Amino acid sequence: MVDLVIRAAPIFTWIASALDVACGRPETSPDMSARLDITHRPRRLRRTEAVRKLVRETALQPGDFIYPVFVVGGDGVREPIDALPGQFRVSIDELVKEGHELLDLGIPAVNLFGYCDTKSDDAAAAYNPDGLVQRAVRALKTECPELCVQTDVALDPYSTHGHDGLVIDGEVANDESVEVLCRMALSHAEAGVDWVAPSDMMDGRVGAIRDALDAAGFPEVAILAYSAKYASTFYGPFRDALKSTPKEGDKKTYQMDPANLREALREIQLDIDEGADVVMVKPALLYLDVIAAASSEFDVPIAAYNVSGEYSMLMAAADRGWLDREEGMMEMLLSIKRAGADMILTYFARDAARLLA
Ligand code: PBG
Repeated sequence: MVDLVIRAAPIFTWIASALDVACGRPETSPDMSARLDITHRPRRLRRTEAVRKLVRETALQPGDFIYPVFVVGGDGVREPIDALPGQFRVSIDELVKEGHELLDLGIPAVNLFGYCDTKSDDAAAAYNPDGLVQRAVRALKTECPELCVQTDVALDPYSTHGHDGLVIDGEVANDESVEVLCRMALSHAEAGVDWVAPSDMMDGRVGAIRDALDAAGFPEVAILAYSAKYASTFYGPFRDALKSTPKEGDKKTYQMDPANLREALREIQLDIDEGADVVMVKPALLYLDVIAAASSEFDVPIAAYNVSGEYSMLMAAADRGWLDREEGMMEMLLSIKRAGADMILTYFARDAARLLA
């Protein structure tokens, strides 16, 4: 009790002098006896930038980023995307220029999405050996061989209905879709892709794609599996970029319920068992808990997709002067890495790499 009073004494002194000020009594010089008798002062390690650098637990580097790019037909095309300010649909020649710039910035990878204007019910353009993405892969691997070239494997940009698989009798059919996805992945492998990234969330597709790649003589092509991909409203700007919004219904029968965490771990485990080399959590910012759980549970590399809506949300607020774009961007990316992501797909890749340089 006595001890408590002694410890609390400086607080009483402080309250008394605060009262003096409040009541208009003349303020005396700062009372040095107002010091708290505490041993631990975490602020010691935040006093200067030098000290903060020493105790920093997480650091971003350009090598963490994968840059998602939308490829479009034509020559010399660089079309701004309304809902993704600062991002463009680029033709293959522009993509190659982009590839060189990314390497100069220290960004090791691109992930390609094709813009398709010959959509069909069977999404046949997705696995055309001379399709846009297939040609883009060839060009990039010829001109920028050091770049890790990755491709999205899903049918939504190529199908009239906008779903990631085939629609049969009004349902997104699993096994029939997997067969088409394997064909698509193979056409990318034949073009020389480094990683294929199935984003469709069909059951069993990672194992089927692995078998197909191995049987065709592509054991070196890796699979970046969208393992825990949630049915999120934050894909809106991406669908605007590819004109791939589903014509009917939603994606809730294959993408995950945002309410579920344990299910994500089960999905990830299944993909690892089927041969995924890297597993992904998507979106990233709203699912940091899933990234953290995945990285503590599994020993394969974890990717996180900082999706279009997360990007555009900050860009829109920054445009209105409500948030600082650069600080917001770095804080977002840092939080994703701190949560446990080894690599981040992000539309901020170029800007962040420039800032880090
Ligand atoms: C489609 C796909 C989507 C994204 C990546 N691949 C959209 C969707 O599932 O509807 C979203 C990426 C983003 O929002 O940035 N298979």
